[in-house]
Amino acid sequence: MRVRPFLATFGLTLWLVLPGAAMAQQDGASIHLDVYKSPTCGCCTLWMDHLADNGFTSTGHHPDELGEFKRELGVPLRYGSCHTGVSEEGYVFEGHVPARFIQAFLDDPPEGALGLAVPAMPVGSPGMEYRDQFRPYDILLLLKDGSVEVYASVGTYEAQFDGAD
Ligand code: CU
Ligand code: CU
Repeated sequence: MRVRPFLATFGLTLWLVLPGAAMAQQDGASIHLDVYKSPTCGCCTLWMDHLADNGFTSTGHHPDELGEFKRELGVPLRYGSCHTGVSEEGYVFEGHVPARFIQAFLDDPPEGALGLAVPAMPVGSPGMEYRDQFRPYDILLLLKDGSVEVYASVGTYEAQFDGAD
């Protein structure tokens, strides 16, 4: 509980000090995700930091049965990762999905979509940084009928961030 006042103060300070940065990220600032995760898993929190860096807000939750929670949301087990973000519209973002792809998805949600998933935890994805390592990965489009398609292939570390194309 000791971290709570610090985080509150830190957040408030950022808000007061960085109005310019907040303005520049106006689009992302309207996106809020509820993030379901394990309390002991650090990479989930680092991914939430990445969301914040991109102007999103997020709230962490620790369900007793995370696997069961994912199943109820319709996330196929084999495409699962450590955490599950849920947008206000009810779209699901499983794993270390880069903010720019969440933004693109929410700007224009594909027909019949449940959400996006980055299965497992590719090294070098947001929140999974380790030295300079990067493993190319696909972002999957989860469809409500249980099928999946490739939404985007992320071939380089840089392609994960805005201005990359
Ligand atoms: Cu993770
Ligand atoms: Cu994690």
